[in-house]
Amino acid sequence: MSIIFVPKEVTPDETRVAATPETVKQLVKRGFRVLVQHDAGKGSFHSDNDYIDAGAEICREVEEGYKTADVLLKFHAPQEHPDFGKHEVSMLKKGALVISFLWPLQEHEDVKRLQSHNVTSFAMDQIPRISRAQDMDALSSQSNIAGYKAALMAAEALPKLLPLMMTAAGTIKPAKIVIMGAGVAGLQAIATAKRLGAVVEVSDIRPAVKEQVQSLGAKFIEVESDEALEDEGGYAKEVSKDFLQKQQEVVRQHVVAADAVITTALVPGKRAPVLITKDMVEEMKPGSVIVDLAAEQGGNCEVTTLNRQIVHNGVMVIGHAQLAAKLPKDASEMYARNILTVLKHLFDKEANLTLDFEDEITAGSIVTHDGEIVSARVREAMELPELKKEEAPSEDESSTDETDGKASEDASKKS
Ligand code: NAI
Repeated sequence: MSIIFVPKEVTPDETRVAATPETVKQLVKRGFRVLVQHDAGKGSFHSDNDYIDAGAEICREVEEGYKTADVLLKFHAPQEHPDFGKHEVSMLKKGALVISFLWPLQEHEDVKRLQSHNVTSFAMDQIPRISRAQDMDALSSQSNIAGYKAALMAAEALPKLLPLMMTAAGTIKPAKIVIMGAGVAGLQAIATAKRLGAVVEVSDIRPAVKEQVQSLGAKFIEVESDEALEDEGGYAKEVSKDFLQKQQEVVRQHVVAADAVITTALVPGKRAPVLITKDMVEEMKPGSVIVDLAAEQGGNCEVTTLNRQIVHNGVMVIGHAQLAAKLPKDASEMYARNILTVLKHLFDKEANLTLDFEDEITAGSIVTHDGEIVSARVREAMELPELKKEEAPSEDESSTDETDGKASEDASKKS
């Protein structure tokens, strides 16, 4: 029987939790023993008693929880624990499994720590975006919530109404909202802004998006280009300076006329493109609002300040990261369900870990195992040579070149 430990997240202001009473109940039914840190669910409104009713044990000796765990479930990557002055990884036993967001293509020191501590790590951000893995896709579940919240924050911050209102006191024109980037977060922001009655215009560089935008009742802003703007995985490519300049010119008139702009444009593994320059902000109407969902990746707006709400020349610019944490109940429910599906994928019916490296999802998402960095994509990002055959996971845990290639290709879509 494997023991799962669910700690309280140590990242300041993090409200989400990686397992909810609903998912704990299912895990216990599948034969896991589940330890939940005292108050781990407090930020998402799940009490210790809710977890006990679901079959979990509440753990007050937190260090013991880490030491006992066969599986550590988290939202954020393991980090220094402020209460113990130790890294979360260093408290784990060798061979334990960590499942969380890890961002291994960028966070190489974290990867090395997981490897040297002989921890098996599964990166939620590396799960291939394939239909079989949709119910594990935490990038999508959290982006969906962030897009919704961004539209609400824009509505809340605006000094005017969103819908058209015809009243005895006269007619109020609907607000105009421009949304840049129509991936998962952007599409949800469009749908939410439309539901609130705004007129919505959208810019994205992937041609496939146009139809989706129009089907939500929004107007698509076209930017003509001869460049290939989408990779084989369906993700945006980094565009040239010339294209970016042309795009800024086209969107400028829309941005300047807008009441609110929500930006969600990202290019996997790169700094977010700057779509709204400082002088564009200065041309906007006083009282307008920008919500920059790309703030953590450098921002789509030149004046965005990470985790701050500033006013620049009368325009409010909101740069809060991790907007999904502002809706912790549903964000945790969705994340915990993503994690539950991952556990069902990695463990057999007796709750024993069975890693099949020929499986695209496992091979794409496992970063370290058995003292090795096993992800081909991460090795490439860290400029390490390919893992030799004899070093690669063997027998059940072996992977063919073909599978590796596919997995790394899929995983690369987001990274
Ligand atoms: P993302 O978060 O990487 O990027 C957000 C959006 O920004 C994208 O639509 C991108 O085209 C856009 N963008 C990039 N540069 C831009 C620029 N200069 N100007 C305007 N827009 C720009 O994307 P996300 O939300 O993670 O998903 C993107 C892709 O992944 C889509 O093709 C989506 O359909 C696919 N996907 C597939 C899933 C599956 O098959 N299971 C699940 C989720 C997403």
